[in-house]
Amino acid sequence: MLNLFSKKTFIADLFDGFVDIHNHLLPGLDDGAPDVDIAIQLIQELMQIGFGGSISTPHTMNEYYANTPLTINTAKEGLLKALQENDIHFKLSASSEYMMDGHFQDILKKGEILPLRDRYVLVEMSYLQPPINLDEIIFDITSKEYIPVLAHPERYNYLHQDFSKYTDLKQRGCLFQLNMLALSDYYGSSTKKTAYKFIEDGYYDFIGSDVHHMRHINSLKNMKLTAKYVPAIEGLISKTRETFNP
Ligand SMILES: [Fe+2]
Repeated sequence: MLNLFSKKTFIADLFDGFVDIHNHLLPGLDDGAPDVDIAIQLIQELMQIGFGGSISTPHTMNEYYANTPLTINTAKEGLLKALQENDIHFKLSASSEYMMDGHFQDILKKGEILPLRDRYVLVEMSYLQPPINLDEIIFDITSKEYIPVLAHPERYNYLHQDFSKYTDLKQRGCLFQLNMLALSDYYGSSTKKTAYKFIEDGYYDFIGSDVHHMRHINSLKNMKLTAKYVPAIEGLISKTRETFNP
């Protein structure tokens, strides 16, 4: 007998002009696209799998990627120009993925933040350990009336043993952004298991690609979802679209 739930759908079939809210397409700023030519190639590949645009989010990470609104906007302008010259119609805007550290607290104080849109700010933590003053940083964000969108919560393996920390982050006002590839084996089994648990518990608010390079895009291209999870992913895609590109 045919099992209804064995039917699979390519995730790419759900994109339909999706404007991504997390990726590293802006050239020369971080560990994403190294130059304009590669950024254009990545964008063309993303368009082929159904993306219509991007709010690009280079890392702002004090010692490694010392980005500022100026470096980010300059790279965005350069890429927009190249898109225009190549007659490529891709909606491009820019924000950043902020590492929650002391430098972030400083620029938050100074108001030197590029939100995703309105008051939404994309933030991340180290993959090795959370910041010791995580609660204080979240408080700093929300007291400035920004809304923290935590990038890929499923990828912080040190939290996988204690889900109460995730509940606590939600209660403190963090919204959760799923990395699409976490639903495949790309980041490993513990991340994948956590991602599916969060989907089942309705913990995610938004979805993003976190594309850095062609390997990510090729993996997305081949990625399939079990029918059971398609409505949840469609829901996340719609909510992301309604919030950031109404
Ligand atoms: Fe990222």
